[in-house]
Amino acid sequence: MNITVTGGALADFDCSVLLVGHFEGNKIPEGAARLLDKRCSGLISELIDGGDFEGKLYTSSVVYTRGSIPAKRILIAGLGRKEEFDLERLRGVSSKAAQKIRDLGIPRVAASLDFGETELSMGDAVRAAVEGALLGLYRFTPYKTTEEDRKGDITDLTIVEDRPELIEDSKKSAQTAQTISQAVYCARDLVSAPSNDMTPSILADKAGAIAAETGLTFEVLDEAAMEKLGMNALLGVARGSAEEARLIVLEHKGGKKDTPPVVLVGKGITFDSGGISIKPSDKMDEMKSDMAGGAAVIAAIKAAVDLKLPLNVVAIVPATENLPGGRAYKPGDVLKTMSGLTVEVKNTDAEGRLILADALTFAKKYHPAAIVDIATLTGACVVALGDYLAGMMGTDTGLKEAISAASAATGEMVWELPLWHEYEELIKSDVADIKNVGTRAGGTITAGLFLKRFAGDCPWVHLDIAGPALLAKDKPYIPKGASGIGVRLLTQFLMDRSHVSSHP
Ligand code: BES
Ligand code: ZN
Ligand code: ZN
Repeated sequence: MNITVTGGALADFDCSVLLVGHFEGNKIPEGAARLLDKRCSGLISELIDGGDFEGKLYTSSVVYTRGSIPAKRILIAGLGRKEEFDLERLRGVSSKAAQKIRDLGIPRVAASLDFGETELSMGDAVRAAVEGALLGLYRFTPYKTTEEDRKGDITDLTIVEDRPELIEDSKKSAQTAQTISQAVYCARDLVSAPSNDMTPSILADKAGAIAAETGLTFEVLDEAAMEKLGMNALLGVARGSAEEARLIVLEHKGGKKDTPPVVLVGKGITFDSGGISIKPSDKMDEMKSDMAGGAAVIAAIKAAVDLKLPLNVVAIVPATENLPGGRAYKPGDVLKTMSGLTVEVKNTDAEGRLILADALTFAKKYHPAAIVDIATLTGACVVALGDYLAGMMGTDTGLKEAISAASAATGEMVWELPLWHEYEELIKSDVADIKNVGTRAGGTITAGLFLKRFAGDCPWVHLDIAGPALLAKDKPYIPKGASGIGVRLLTQFLMDRSHVSSHP
């Protein structure tokens, strides 16, 4: 989609649809809607006065301008109550309006974000509106062979801003939003792809292609290289599969040489059958999304290089399938991790923490300033926090606060769970140093405590995205399916850390 920001009056714009907003409870149109209304001899006020449009959140109404202005129609979008309006609502409003316009088959839109007096800065509003529209319009269509499922994409979005002093900032924000949304699309595409087309080696090839396009440094370790490093936990999980495991490493060298990087680690299980501790077949198909953490870190570092962030970032993705088979690892097996710690495998379905253990040890070679790992790690996290919240655990208060701030800014919500030391008992093993499961109760925390053993004293945060990685229902600007969760959160975290705002 072409996105532009331009000066001038919305009413003069020659376009098939103009998009404006209206707050619930307002008797008269405000901002851009008021100016349009004047030029169209009260068409919008008539609609409001007649009670046909109340401005309720996510509703909208189409008005034909009948030659009063160059544009053929106006789409007036409900913003809900003004006192409840915020960036998250704007993302949703923008998405819902864009979806409606696509359904109407209209390819070119001009919009104003002048809603009258609001608390939002124009830069933030532009970013939220553009992200909302793009994220809400996402569709995964590579496997659809009929035109029906592909038609009607919006090709042009013009944001019209009549205050010249706001145009520069708005342009930068729109650009940032587009870059970040493209990264989210990238993650959603990787996660949505079926596991037969997203094996560890294909995922590594995709990461290599992204690196070649963007200028990231790319390295991939095959099983022989992992063996040399002693990554027996990752290799143990991989043994049941005919597909070779990969360890994917991407680097963005945007900071000064020798400044410690932020290392992002993402779980890359391209299919999780559970292994010998096999999962029930119902919904097992959803486990193609068990590499959503890996996809998020690949996409976030792509955003970091595309935004030219002035800091050093490394993304690490341990990638393998988890399958049963004649050579598969088994309950009771003991694996010696790269760190030297031994792990008793109580359940082969708790494979994520095993591959992350070796990836975290590998990450420490970079002497990171911080490690953030992200993983579809535990069903227990969905039980604790539901489908939409990510669980957050970590060892560093400042880092947790930075992640929470990025979470609040992006609407990718996280909730902290405690790494309570008394639960360390639960992962003690009779035969090895630790075991890979604790009790059913508190399963997210014991998984976090397991990872903590490998993060050691490096400032570290763990995000469990088992709930929000794959949505069963549409959200206002996240269509059902792969959400791309973590991409906006991690990118915002990196932007904040490099003191880059969305409209510098
Ligand atoms: N990939 C799953 C976790 C998961 C569950 C992600 C539901 C998304 C939705 C993970 O590998 C797993 O199977 N974890 C086990 C751990 C248990 C055996 C301790 C689980 O949550 O049941
Ligand atoms: Zn599993
Ligand atoms: Zn898993």
